Amino acid sequence: MQFHIKDEALADEGLKQIEWADWQMPVLRQIRERFEREKPLQGIRIGACLHVTKETANLMRTLIAGGAQVALCASNPLSTQDEVAAALVKHFGVPVFAIRGEDTETYYKHIHAVLDIQPDITMDDGADLVSTLHKERRDQLAKVRGGTEETTTGVIRLRSMAREGVLAYPIIAVNDAYTKFLFDNRYGTGQSAIDGILRATNFLLAGSTIVVAGYGWCGRGIAMRARGMGARVIVTEVNPLRALEAVMDGFEVMPMAEAAEKGDVFVTATGDVRVITVEHMLKMKDGAIVCNAGHFDVEVDVKGLRQVATKVRRIRPSVDEFTLPNGKRIFLLAEGRLVNLAAAEGHPAAVMDMSFANQALSVAYLAQHAHELAKDVYPVPRELDEEVARLKLESMGIKIDTLTPEQQRYLSSWEEGTE
Ligand code: NAI
Repeated sequence: MQFHIKDEALADEGLKQIEWADWQMPVLRQIRERFEREKPLQGIRIGACLHVTKETANLMRTLIAGGAQVALCASNPLSTQDEVAAALVKHFGVPVFAIRGEDTETYYKHIHAVLDIQPDITMDDGADLVSTLHKERRDQLAKVRGGTEETTTGVIRLRSMAREGVLAYPIIAVNDAYTKFLFDNRYGTGQSAIDGILRATNFLLAGSTIVVAGYGWCGRGIAMRARGMGARVIVTEVNPLRALEAVMDGFEVMPMAEAAEKGDVFVTATGDVRVITVEHMLKMKDGAIVCNAGHFDVEVDVKGLRQVATKVRRIRPSVDEFTLPNGKRIFLLAEGRLVNLAAAEGHPAAVMDMSFANQALSVAYLAQHAHELAKDVYPVPRELDEEVARLKLESMGIKIDTLTPEQQRYLSSWEEGTE
């Protein structure tokens, strides 16, 4: 078996981490037990490009239980947990190609290594695997039955491929399941981005001003949790509806050019490019902390910052100090990459439980139905989404009411009105 990881000797440590995550992933575990009995993925090859974390390891175990052959590479050069990569290779026989801190060339070499297994189904987080396949390995496209996509930015890229008529097979947008974005993007990113900032800096949030760029699902979560820690929160937006929502949720809203002078900590979560520019950073207070929770490392102009800086040094793990020509310092976390994965452990397992339950069920759905689908981006079927919510509630010991026959009739009729 081929693989490329940091150190096989880390495998036993990784196994403990995977088991630790597993007990907080009851929905995925239940699906794994069902897959073991029913083998819905028998004979299917899955090429996966995901953050190589302990939660992802449990997804890989689930796919294997279903009968699939899998290969895994990282969807971000800084998010790999090397001990988990080792455990996947040694204890679960998964070919993993991922080393934390790999350079861009190695990152793409690893994507190619996964494509070498000639996948029937692709599983992507950010669409780098799918776009490499479409740009550089077109000869393999005919073999691929379908794919899944984990995150907002990937779904946006894939929709644009479908619009231009270049997408060669159907994709299920796992991100757009309610049991994904309402929980993973909001509560997952909300908690883990704050966790990343705190682990990197140990900064006191109480009484500080934190600027959150983007009031989407991730931004809402970060703003909500930062307020909970006692920070004053400023939101920046480009969408008037989202900006209005932020105002009514009680946050200050203003353009980044104004917020730049006020913030102590800046977090971007927009999926957009150059949201924090060099001009913004030149206006910031001495010692401002800048980081990103969006998918790609383009939200903060890191290249521009490197160009203007008169001095750069790593002051502690995950924190680079940039001295600007005006003498002020900027502390950039995790090189501007996903702060929650690069400076902490990513989302808590209990939230990834739902995201990856959607992944597992979507792959099983594709195995059965891909031939009925067009070359387009599809939502997770509603019944799978509701199944995940039902299983999660059950695992939490929470019961809910069910509609009576009278209520079902009432809710589907138009005749009854004012009595
Ligand atoms: P979303 O589409 O719900 O929200 C993005 C928001 O940013 C929108 O309201 C948009 O109007 C706003 N925006 C766009 N350009 C802006 C600008 N220049 N200034 C201010 N606001 C701007 O997207 P979601 O789900 O919140 O995802 C955001 C990013 O986070 C994506 O790249 C996504 O892939 C990534 N993501 C990261 C996770 C993590 O673990 N850190 C988890 C889930 C998603």
